[in-house]
Amino acid sequence: MKIKTLSLSLGYLLLGSLLFVSCLEDRVDLTKVSYTHEEYAILSQHLNLPLERASFQVEFPAHMTRTGAVAPEIDDAKATLGSVLFYDKKLSANNKVSCESCHKQSLAFSDDVAFSEGFDGQLTKRNSLPLASTPNFESSYNGSGNSFFTGMQAGFFWDERAHSIAEQSKMTLEDDIEMGVDIYQLAGKLSDIPYYQILFQKAYGSPSATPDKITDALEVFINSFVSVSSPFDEGLNQHQTPFADFTNFSQQENLGKTLFNTHCNGCHSSDFTALVETVANNGLDIEYEDKGMGERTQLDFDNGRFKVPFLRNVALTGPYMHDGRFETLEEVIDHYSEGIQDHPNLDFRLRDGFNNAAQPRRFNFTETEKAALIAFLHTVTDDKFIQDERFADPFK
Ligand code: HEC
Ligand code: HEC
Repeated sequence: MKIKTLSLSLGYLLLGSLLFVSCLEDRVDLTKVSYTHEEYAILSQHLNLPLERASFQVEFPAHMTRTGAVAPEIDDAKATLGSVLFYDKKLSANNKVSCESCHKQSLAFSDDVAFSEGFDGQLTKRNSLPLASTPNFESSYNGSGNSFFTGMQAGFFWDERAHSIAEQSKMTLEDDIEMGVDIYQLAGKLSDIPYYQILFQKAYGSPSATPDKITDALEVFINSFVSVSSPFDEGLNQHQTPFADFTNFSQQENLGKTLFNTHCNGCHSSDFTALVETVANNGLDIEYEDKGMGERTQLDFDNGRFKVPFLRNVALTGPYMHDGRFETLEEVIDHYSEGIQDHPNLDFRLRDGFNNAAQPRRFNFTETEKAALIAFLHTVTDDKFIQDERFADPFK
């Protein structure tokens, strides 16, 4: 009897450990081991994916982890699928545009025109936003829409109407100017494609595409975009505070940084990592044609208020502002220096004496100061990020 129990429990133990090992193997299969030769042959007909799946693991620099920021966990199989979706023109109604058409890696995933062309040649209503700024993205805060720094909502789009990249992606796919698809039909279309069957299987354990899997994989891929290898990051890691003169900066760049930290950081922040203000009116017009947040909320208070753009890689992301009205950073600085308009919702930080009722500020920067601000803005360009192979077009 005793012996029987023992052998039985040994049996269970053995069965249990076998099950455990096979579960583990499944897990390994899903996340690490890449493809069988047969699968790889199918993928390789269209795609240039490495046989060993790339790691999309995100590492935050010291200056971010010091503040308690936690890097998002990235599932490599989902990110790989997301990268294929991102570059696939089949995601638009007539197979003419992909996400990349308006978000180009060499431009920190922005576009170089004021308004981009959608699938049937119509132009977008606003300027494409760069995507190389994950720390600004809600999903890398704590997933609930709250920044761990400020507790404020940081939404997506110029009017922050989307709460996650998954939600944003659904809106973009179904937008009748941008991609024009029915997302359920799209899922059916992708489910019939052999390379997607493999990639969905690896990422989600079954070969069929669904709307949720499509938008989730896009979100995971975009969450892995973390542009934190600029000269500015190097300086911030070294000096621990953005207010010290950086030894890796020229005198001109340090002057620009000081000016930025005096006049601009009230919204855009000093560390280029977490915004201080998520939306604001920066006095572009007295009458806004596009009312921004106001279009969405119908509140006068929101007219002319737009997302405060994240300025990482800003030298690459022109033209500037929600309507791409400024071609160059010189024009942007001229606006702040002499051109701020007295809109009723103009932010107090851009008024004299930080007073809500006062006149728009005239910074009247000298030529030296303007050049210094622009030189400083070039220090947040991240060459490593825009050349990172993992984010490049996987199609042959
Ligand atoms: C036809 C051009 C076009 C295509 C195609 C396109 N986008 Fe965009 N994207 C834009 C424009 C324009 C905006 C800003 C729109 C707005 O704010 O109303 C934007 C905004 C975004 C944002 C918000 C960024 C932020 O900081 O708030 C994300 C994320 C994004 N796009 C991802 C994608 C993904 C993923 C795809 C593919 C599914 C895609 N885009 C396809 C033009 C495009
Ligand atoms: C009151 C908050 C606030 C302050 C202060 C502020 N900005 Fe802005 N900034 C914004 C907003 C909001 C936008 C987008 C406005 C729009 O498109 O309608 C913007 C846009 C920009 C852009 C364009 C980015 C892009 O991708 O299109 C640059 C560059 C910029 N600001 C630099 C600066 C500089 C330099 C200063 C200091 C001289 C400064 N900002 C001060 C709120 C602010």
